[in-house]
This record gives sequence, structure tokens and C-alpha cells, in this order.
Amino acid sequence: EAMSQQEARFRASVADIATTPDTPRRSPEREPAGESFTNSVDSDPALPSVREWGRGVVTSQPIEPTSPVLQTTDDVDRLVRTARKAQPAWAARPATERAAVLRRAADELEARRGVLITQAVHEGGKTIDQVDPEVSEAIDFARYYADRALELDPGASWHTDGATFTPDSLTLVTPPWNFPVAIPIGGVLAALAAGSAVIIKPAPPVPGCTEIAVAALHAAGVPEDLLHMVRTDEGDVGRHLVSHDDVDTVILTGAAETAEVFTSWRTGRPRGPRVLGETSGKNALIITPAADYDLAVADLVRSAFGHAGQKCSASSLAILVGSAGSSQRLRRQLIDAVRSLRVGWPTDIGVTMGPVIEPPGEKLHRALTTLEPGETWLVEPKQLDDTGRLWSPGLKDGVRPGSWYHLTEAFGPVLGLMYADTLEEAIRLQNAVAYGLTGGLHSLDEDEVTTWLDRVEVGNAYVNRHITGAIVRRQSFGGWKASSVGPGAKAGGPNYVAQLGSFAPAGLPT
Ligand code: SER
Repeated sequence: EAMSQQEARFRASVADIATTPDTPRRSPEREPAGESFTNSVDSDPALPSVREWGRGVVTSQPIEPTSPVLQTTDDVDRLVRTARKAQPAWAARPATERAAVLRRAADELEARRGVLITQAVHEGGKTIDQVDPEVSEAIDFARYYADRALELDPGASWHTDGATFTPDSLTLVTPPWNFPVAIPIGGVLAALAAGSAVIIKPAPPVPGCTEIAVAALHAAGVPEDLLHMVRTDEGDVGRHLVSHDDVDTVILTGAAETAEVFTSWRTGRPRGPRVLGETSGKNALIITPAADYDLAVADLVRSAFGHAGQKCSASSLAILVGSAGSSQRLRRQLIDAVRSLRVGWPTDIGVTMGPVIEPPGEKLHRALTTLEPGETWLVEPKQLDDTGRLWSPGLKDGVRPGSWYHLTEAFGPVLGLMYADTLEEAIRLQNAVAYGLTGGLHSLDEDEVTTWLDRVEVGNAYVNRHITGAIVRRQSFGGWKASSVGPGAKAGGPNYVAQLGSFAPAGLPT
């Protein structure tokens, strides 16, 4: 398979950085064994395109979204009927044709890289270096899922089990606001690759990003009546769409609480969509005395404060093992690195940490302003202006096992430090949370790496690397435990598209 765009850019830009060898890892039970990789790119300010786009972003204006706003439940019913009507013709097209459309979509997205970056900077408050690789990820999804469409084609040569794939008729994608390009478009592309019609309802703060990306897909040849972007309120009309009997699947990326609400809406009903959810995380990076501390600090700060910590994959805890916990050098480096982040509005290309999406809600406010018993601030966060959105980063020491901060996802720029005498104890602390999304280990000791990979309960386990920014194909993305709803195939991995349909013996009705 061709090298992914993100991977190629990574190799071109940081080829001189030494990495530990790729380490085989145990995958969660629901996924076949995969590989782990030790590097990727999700925010490397050295990337040429970041410099290239920087100037344009500062001077360009974002678009005003024009996609329809559904006003009534009748609007929803009409939309669902229109989309379903268009689906059989799309599914009947040869897989090679559908794959070619998806590949053209990759090119159309690339052609809009600059406007997508501008939009996400203005609308979503992301720094340029955080959006640029997100656009690459969307492009990677298009090419990767195009290949999966070919595999699911009933005529594909590897189809030897006599089962035929029948796609869902209609998929609804409900993405979050924190990755306003890659996550919405990844879901849309997977559904299109399967052969489904799609409705995409972007998160309210960031509709323009999705609108630009959807326009790219239409320009690539995705029929307009097959793929619809709409906006709704979050009340009755939204609920009618999300729980509609004629929607087969809802792809949700969002808070675990949202997944519970979506699932509850269909409980006890004979029909209604099933929910495939990638939800919350409370992720930790372990640093042992065998770590390269310089690398560990850089990766930790990047994992904790990239996009102001507003990633389900972010590391909001660091667990320091043994003498790593008493190392004054490590502590000093970490404090300096956190203090050196430059907070501001991301239209200023010197800014390395942008705003939070809205003034902090209850959980984030508590994490930013309150200390639990035993905790102290190494770097105390401060509200920087009266928008309520700009906060300097916080570094919290002495988070106690089982405390509120240990177990709760706060989704913002706070990193808490915990201590463990042994790696085993650190792994217990890492696994003690309800979620299981990402996790990291910094250690150059092979035995420690093996022990950790064998025991850590996360979907994406990263060794000697930051723990955000999964790369399509290399690091398919998804969690287990309370971070996942549904069968759990990971985004950007081999089984994701096949979830969006059903298999039946050839010749039998599905
Ligand atoms: N895929 C993103 C990451 O890996 C999170 O959604 O950071």
C-alpha cells in the first residue's frame, strides 16, 4: 500500500530524529493483532506547509456556512427519504468507480487545504500546526477507505466465504468540534466506501469546516442527493434525526454521556439506528527511570496541551515511576516546557496553544481552578482575558489515586502528575479509569516495554512517542472499555468500513 500522506510528510520532515524500533503490541480483544509505531506527526511546527499556510491564514477570512438548518421533524423525514432513495444507485456502481470517486475526493481536499486551515483556525480556535495534519488525515481516510471499498466488492477475489456485503442504506455522522475536518469527513468517507447514503450533522461551533470538505466530495463526484450536510438544533428536531427509524447507523464521536443519551433514545424500540461510538478518555503517559527524559517531556507537553488539551486522545496525567518521580531535572524541564507555551488566538502564527472552545463548563472549571487534597500547583492556570476562553496551561502535582482528577476527563489544558514506586503500580493507576482510549510509555528498556504492552488497557498504546495524532492505517484509532460503543472496529483500520453493513450468504435476502 502507498505510504500515507501524513507518514510521507513525517518522514520528509523529521527523518533525522532517532526512534526506537517498532514494537509489536497486544491489541484489545475486539481487534485483530496490529502493529504499533513509535512516531507520527500531529503538530510539528517544522512542517513546510505550516509555514507556507501561516501567512494566508492570518489574512484570509472564513466562510459563512450556508447549509440548510432543519426546522421541523417533517424536514428530517423528507431528508431521510431523499438520501435513502439515492443509495441503491450508489451501491450498484462498481466498487472501482466508487473508489475512484473517493480518490478524487482526496485530491479535492488537498486543493482546499488552505481554506480548510483558515476555517478551522477562525471557527475552531485550532493552531495552524494542529489543523494542517488534520487535513492530511482526511486525505488519508479518502485513499484508505477507497481501498476498503474494493475489498468489500462481492466480486473481489479474496471473497471466498460465500458471504456478500450489503451496505447500510443510510448513515448519520455526528462528529465533535475538536477535529472539525478529519473526524466528520472520515465518517462520511467510510460510509460512502461501504455504499451507504450519508447525512452529516456537524458540531454547532464548526459547521464551515465540514461544509468546505463536503463541497470537496461533491466536486469529486459524490452525488448531491446521496451526501447531505445539515444543521439542526440540539432539541426535538435533532433528536428525531438521531433516533430516526430509517437511519441504520449513527457514527458518533463525542462524550460518553452523549453516547448514553443517543443509545437511550432507541432502547426498547424495535427499530432505530445502532450507535457506533468513539467516546471519552482519561489518558496517562508513564515515564520510567529508563526513559529519555528530554524526549519524554517534549512528547508529554505535546500530548497534554496540543489544541489546549481538547482531544479525547490527550494525556491529562503523567505517572512518574521511581527515581523519575524524584528527578529534579525532569521536574524542572517539565515546568519550563509548560511555561514556555505561548497562549493566544491562533491567527497569530507564533501562538503554540490556542483557546478552549467555550468558557469552561463545570468539569474543566474545577480542573483549572480547584485543588483536591494532596494536590499543589507547579504551574497554576490563569484566565487571560474576559472572553473566558483563553487560559494558560496548568500543571498539577500530587494527584492521588482514586481522586476526582485521576478518574475524570476534564478536556482542557491541565496536566496532573502522579507517582508510582514500580512500573506495575503505574500500570494499575493507568488502568484504574473507566475509559481505555490512549496511553503512553516512555522507556528505553525492552522488558518494561513488553510488560507495559501486555497489560495496558487502551485501544491505542504508544511507546516513546506522544499519544495523540494517530496515523491512518499505521495506528487505527479507537478505544475499549467506556471509550467505545458498538463492535469497536477502529477508524482508519481494516475493519471500519465493514461495520457499516451486513454480511449474508450470496443469494439469500439480507
Ligand atoms: N485521532 C485523534 C488522535 O489520535 C483523536 O480523535 O489524536
